[in-house]
Amino acid sequence: MKSVVKIEKGLEGVYFTESKICKVDGTLGRLCYRGYSIEDLAENSTFEEVSYPLLFGVLPKKGELNTFKKDLSDKRALPKEIIKIIEESVNKCDTMHILRTAVSALPLYDKNLDSKTSDKLQDSINLISKVASITATIGRYLYGKKYVAPNKNLGHAENFLYMLNGVLPSKKDSRILDKMMILHAEHSSNASTFSALVTASTLSDIYSAFTSAIGTLKGPLHGEADENALRMMYAIKDANNTENYINNALNKKERIMGFGHRIYKTYDPRARIIRSLLTEMQKSNNTEIKNITEIALAAEKMMIEKLGKSHGIWPNVDFFAGPVYRYINIPIDIFTPLFATGRSPGWCAHIIEYLENNRLIRPLELYEGKTNLHYKKISSR
Ligand code: SDX
Repeated sequence: MKSVVKIEKGLEGVYFTESKICKVDGTLGRLCYRGYSIEDLAENSTFEEVSYPLLFGVLPKKGELNTFKKDLSDKRALPKEIIKIIEESVNKCDTMHILRTAVSALPLYDKNLDSKTSDKLQDSINLISKVASITATIGRYLYGKKYVAPNKNLGHAENFLYMLNGVLPSKKDSRILDKMMILHAEHSSNASTFSALVTASTLSDIYSAFTSAIGTLKGPLHGEADENALRMMYAIKDANNTENYINNALNKKERIMGFGHRIYKTYDPRARIIRSLLTEMQKSNNTEIKNITEIALAAEKMMIEKLGKSHGIWPNVDFFAGPVYRYINIPIDIFTPLFATGRSPGWCAHIIEYLENNRLIRPLELYEGKTNLHYKKISSR
């Protein structure tokens, strides 16, 4: 008799724990971190000031924020062995493999890491700081340039651009990147956060859990969509070709990268904020920027008309991210490592929160294979 169990493929609609970190309202298209709306935070705060409440639960007072910023900047420098791993890996594999490998190697070489104390907050601050330096350094070696030591006097986003380009960034570019990092900082139990929790729930270490998250974010259904959405825009070439290109893709049952979401069945509030940056980009005299901006806006219009209201397929955080990153001259190959850089406080916050009331994550699967078979010698098979 077939057992009566309900399979929730992909754990769709399943609540596996409670959390106080982030609320995602997929019907109304609302997002808040620790009770503060994403619009409020993106407009008024900084990545450091958002990472603090994700980890500690409350907005920091001035002294607390200064200490947190100093902790982050003190941990930016990369061990020479990590720099060597990056130098020897670039152009040999996907940049997310390099990021994952470099983070995995940190416990071997990182003096900031005292595995005996395993202070999860200090390890989190170390990871948030190091993943930014590793990503920027990958961006250097990809284009044949050398490591740039961090500048302790700069903010997190500002220092990222400094380590990437080797020159002090403009205030405008730093603010745009800072806002993008805020928008990527956290998003409840998305696939990469969930995989971090599966690892953490075995009481493994935070570096292993963080590495699980990087591997999960790499997938095109998740973090890599930002890079693939921009590659689609390059393939479209001209805004007048957008409708034709997308219709062909849809007819072949292909997914349009940067659209659709498991939770949002309306406009992703983060995409709306990122899209607001495109207005100034339309006036750019840089032909690449102007062109991809026009294509992005044409694709948005067409996809919303075709699949928005009818199918609940709307722009998500990944769609406009690519054109904005190109506007501040970020190379496409480090878009997904940059997503990991932004998401680092969210991953760490969930690991710390879940371990306060840990339960090994071990779901069931319904066995539908054969039973009661008997072993046969190889000669008689
Ligand atoms: C992120 O979870 C999070 O919070 C993630 C994230 C975060 O901050 O951590 O928000 C970041 O990962 C955003 C999503 C980035 N991925 C993409 O942009 C890839 C393209 N999007 C899709 O693959 C898809 O929309 C998903 C994976 C994001 C969500 O897919 P679901 O919930 O599993 O929905 P589904 O695959 O069951 O699709 C339902 C229908 C299907 O049609 P039918 O087979 O029923 O006919 O909608 C169609 C799909 O084909 N569909 C799309 C589509 N997304 C869904 N059709 C064309 N293009 C798309 N983008």
